[in-house]
Amino acid sequence: MAKGLGSGELRIGIAGLGTVGVGVLRLLTENQVEISARTGGALRVTAVSARDATRDRGVDLSVLAFEADAAALAARDDVDVLVEVIGGTSGAGADAVMAALRAGKAVVTANKALVAERGAELAALVAEHGGALYFEAAVAGGIPAIKGLREGLAANRVKSVAGILNGTCNFILTKMRAERRAFDDVLAEAQALGYAEADPSFDIDGVDAAHKLAILSAVAFGGVPDFGAIDLRGIRDVTLEDIEMAAEFDFSLKLLGVAKPRVGGPGVRQYVAPVMVPLDNPIASVEDSFNAVVVQADPVDEIMMRGRGAGEGPTASAVVADIIDFARGINPPLFGHSTPVAASGAASGEGAAEERRFWRLLVDDRPGVIAEVSQVLSEQGLSVEKILQTDADGSRAHIFILTHAAPRSIADKVASALDGLSCMVEQPAVYSIED
Ligand SMILES: NC(=O)c1ccc[n+]([C@@H]2O[C@H](COP(=O)([O-])OP(=O)(O)OC[C@H]3O[C@@H](n4cnc5c(N)ncnc54)[C@H](OP(=O)(O)O)[C@@H]3O)[C@@H](O)[C@H]2O)c1
Repeated sequence: MAKGLGSGELRIGIAGLGTVGVGVLRLLTENQVEISARTGGALRVTAVSARDATRDRGVDLSVLAFEADAAALAARDDVDVLVEVIGGTSGAGADAVMAALRAGKAVVTANKALVAERGAELAALVAEHGGALYFEAAVAGGIPAIKGLREGLAANRVKSVAGILNGTCNFILTKMRAERRAFDDVLAEAQALGYAEADPSFDIDGVDAAHKLAILSAVAFGGVPDFGAIDLRGIRDVTLEDIEMAAEFDFSLKLLGVAKPRVGGPGVRQYVAPVMVPLDNPIASVEDSFNAVVVQADPVDEIMMRGRGAGEGPTASAVVADIIDFARGINPPLFGHSTPVAASGAASGEGAAEERRFWRLLVDDRPGVIAEVSQVLSEQGLSVEKILQTDADGSRAHIFILTHAAPRSIADKVASALDGLSCMVEQPAVYSIED
C-alpha cells in the first residue's frame, strides 16, 4: 500500500512541464513554508520529464534529474509520487500512470480524459497493486469538487450533480450575450486569446465537459466513470437569437453537465448540453471563464462551488492539494465508495424527468403559420407557457415557444411533426429548461 509522508520527505516526479507542470513546480517552491507546516515534512521534486530537455520554462530545473521517458520517471527509486500532467488517454502520460500504479506508487493526475475513459482500468490497478490515485485537478481546475463530494458530503445521499465544466464555452456564451456577437466571431476571439485551442472541438462539442462529468458522476453516485453513456451536445448550433430570447424569457443559456438518478430505473442519467437556466438560479450568474459545480443532496440541500476551472495557478492548487493529501496519509476510496457499482448511464434521454422546453423555429413569414404550429403542439398534448414571434429577415420569422413540462417522448414527436410542416425553414432547435 502506497504510504504518505510518514516522517521525513516525500519525493515527487513530475511528468509534463507545460502549463500545469510548471505551475506545480512554482507552487511547491513559492508556498513551501505553508505546505511544510501543513504536512509536517518536506515535499521535494526529484525528477521531471518532458519532450524537450533544454527549453527554458522560467523555473529552475538545474538540480532535478530529467527523464526523456515518463514511464522511466515513474519507475525511479527516488520518486514516491508521480504527478502526471502530460495528458491523453494513451501515450506517454497514460503509460507513466500505469507504470506507477503497477509499481504500487501514488499518482496525482490532472488528466481528465484518462480518468474518464479508462477509470475502471485505473481502479483495477490500484486495487491489485495497492497504489493510490488522486485526480482533483481533472475536474473544474481549482474548485475542490472531488474533495467536496467525497469528503465534505460523505454523509449525504446525492440527488444531482451539475456544473458549468468548460470555461471556454462559458466564456463564448457570456461574450455572445454581453456583446451581441455571433458564435463564430467570439470563437475566433477566444482562439486568438488562447482560451480555445486551434482545434476547438474538444471544448465546443462538449467532450471536455463530458470527461469531467463522468468523473464527478462516478464520485457522486459511487460508480466507475461511464463516459460512453453520456448524452452529448455542444454549443456549435447556439445562435445569438437563442441567447437573446433566453433573457427575454428570464433564462440564461449555459452549457451544463448534469448527472442524476434515472427516473423509473436503476443507474444514472448523464448529459452535457446547452440548457436554459432560470435567471434566479445561482448558476445563471456564473459568467466568463468561471466554472461552477452544484450538488443537491440529502440532508445538506444545495451547495454551489464556483471558481477558476483551468489555468496554471488554479490547476496547480488542486494538484498540490492532492499531493498534500497523500503526504498526510489521506487516501479515500477511489470513486468515493468502497465497493463501486458499475455505472449504468442511459443514453438518448432514457430515464429523463419531465421537462419544460424552449423552442426556436424559423418559418416562412405568412399568415396561418402560428396556427399550424399550435395545431401540432395541441395534437401531441404539449401545452404552451409563452410564445413570441420576431421578424427574421423580412420573408422569414422566428417563433420562440416555452412549453410546459412534458416527457421526452412527446417532445420528440412534436419536433418531428414540426419538422414536417411546409412552413418550416430549418429543423427546430430545442433546449431543456434546467428548473
Ligand atoms: N492547462 C489547464 O488549465 C488544465 C486544467 C485542468 C487539467 N489540465 C490537464 O492537465 C494535463 C496537462 O495540461 P497542460 O495544459 O499543462 O498541457 P501542456 O501545456 O500542453 O503541457 C504538456 C506537457 O507534456 C509534455 N509531454 C508531451 N508529450 C510528452 C512525452 N511523450 N513525454 C514526456 N513529456 C511529454 C510536454 O513536453 P514539452 O513541453 O517538452 O513539449 C509538455 O511539457 C492535461 O491532461 C490537461 O487536460 C490542464
